[in-house]
Amino acid sequence: MTADTSWLESMPEVYDRCLGLAVFAPFGAELALRAADLRPTRVLEIAAGTGIVTAGLVEALPDAEITATDLNPPMVDYASTRVPGPTWRVADAQALDLDDDVFDLVVCQFGVMFFPNRIGAYREVRRVLEPHGSFLFNVWDTLDTSELPAAVYAALAEVLPDNPPDFGTRIPHGYADPTRIRADVQAGGLTVEELDRIELVGTSPSAAQLAEGFCLGTPLRFQLQERGDLAEIVPKVAEVTTRMVGEGPVEGSMAAYVVRARTAL
Ligand SMILES: C[S@@+](CC[C@H](N)C(=O)[O-])C[C@H]1O[C@@H](n2cnc3c(N)ncnc32)[C@H](O)[C@@H]1O
Repeated sequence: MTADTSWLESMPEVYDRCLGLAVFAPFGAELALRAADLRPTRVLEIAAGTGIVTAGLVEALPDAEITATDLNPPMVDYASTRVPGPTWRVADAQALDLDDDVFDLVVCQFGVMFFPNRIGAYREVRRVLEPHGSFLFNVWDTLDTSELPAAVYAALAEVLPDNPPDFGTRIPHGYADPTRIRADVQAGGLTVEELDRIELVGTSPSAAQLAEGFCLGTPLRFQLQERGDLAEIVPKVAEVTTRMVGEGPVEGSMAAYVVRARTAL
């Protein structure tokens, strides 16, 4: 586990409270609807985080057996309390401790960008999928196409002009390339059947909450810690974000690719 992929201690609570509804829930609801259309009976979710998509899957697929997993134990602890019902497990998506040919659907929201070995993770998805199974996942488009995180990163560039953090462009928004996504999925033994670019609107109650969420509830936190005291940096980022976009509520369009792949036969 690296600093780019860690959610420690308080981070899941901050992530869920500050970014859950504003940034992740609109895409989670969209992905859960797509999952329900496939009428799966045994579903695996990887990189499930605080369970935002999981909750949608439980509601949309009341008869399905759902196994939800994440790399970080604090995420699994938080999510299993928030969304009881599914089987929750700690699991690295690149090395799943699960049997072959078990699931008819694997779902992943905004997780694949965090996997250093994406092709290895796609191979694992293929291994645990039944023949004809589906893999449904989404990936952020570039940072400039997502107004809510872009506002916070613009504020960060003003607060830390000599050494602005690059976590956002490098990890969550660093895999925004449909050609590369298709090639990696193919190399993992799956075939992309559908790849859509969608834009959805998110709303945060305040600019300060958005700044808190990205600065303290995502691994951006570790880059900020290297640059100074979080207790000084985060209020400044909140102040500049507020100056830039207003106190709130803050509404912003965000763009992502949604991919449906099948086991290549
Ligand atoms: C941006 S969050 C997305 C969480 C959730 N899917 C959502 O929509 O809110 C990325 C998640 O990927 C998880 N993650 C990072 N690397 C992982 C890996 N190798 N295997 C499984 N999960 C991983 C993190 O713990 C985190 O929960």
